[in-house]
Amino acid sequence: MLALKENFYRLLHPKIVFLLTSVGKDGRDNVMSCAWSTPASEEPPKVIVCVSKEHYTAELILQTGEFAINIPTKDMVKAIWICGSKSGRNVDKFKEANLKKIKASKISAPLIEGCAGFIECKVSETVDAGECYAFLADVLTARADEKYFKKSVWIPHTIPMHLGGRKVVYFEDEKIS
Ligand SMILES: Cc1cc2nc3c(=O)[nH]c(=O)nc-3n(C[C@H](O)[C@H](O)[C@H](O)COP(=O)(O)O)c2cc1C
Repeated sequence: MLALKENFYRLLHPKIVFLLTSVGKDGRDNVMSCAWSTPASEEPPKVIVCVSKEHYTAELILQTGEFAINIPTKDMVKAIWICGSKSGRNVDKFKEANLKKIKASKISAPLIEGCAGFIECKVSETVDAGECYAFLADVLTARADEKYFKKSVWIPHTIPMHLGGRKVVYFEDEKIS
């Protein structure tokens, strides 16, 4: 067996990768790629996203407690890399990755046009998880594009999942019997 230390988390991938949008007190917004997330409760609806304390995104979420999960499609893989390898402290990643901002309905952080799904969130608790903050948040609203999400599930081969490093994969479906 292969012993894993710092890469132990790769055993829990692939994970849906999304574009995490945030906004600061002064209205400056940002987008970063994020894969570490999980639903935390169905009733009330809550999610957890884990963001490194060093990221500009963490700074903005700490200021306003708002963020949005934007789930990109297959044709946005390049944007995933740009938003996951540069910091919004230094560059406007929306511009650099050619992402168009659209208005969210419940929060002031923007959404990203063309994404397959959106979850607007408000932080209820911030956990110091070590290198990351784990933001536990209320789901204020969630919606998906029926082109990609039908009968309450993702359509196979439509949305990229993060395997690790620069690799994404697409899933097949099979019935559990
Ligand atoms: C596919 C992918 C997934 C990532 N997932 C996470 C994650 O779950 N949490 C995290 O803190 N950083 C993650 N990152 C790294 C951040 O996106 C990256 O460090 C980014 O530059 C931070 O941007 P910011 O400083 O503008 O917030 C990921 C990067 C990639 C490419």
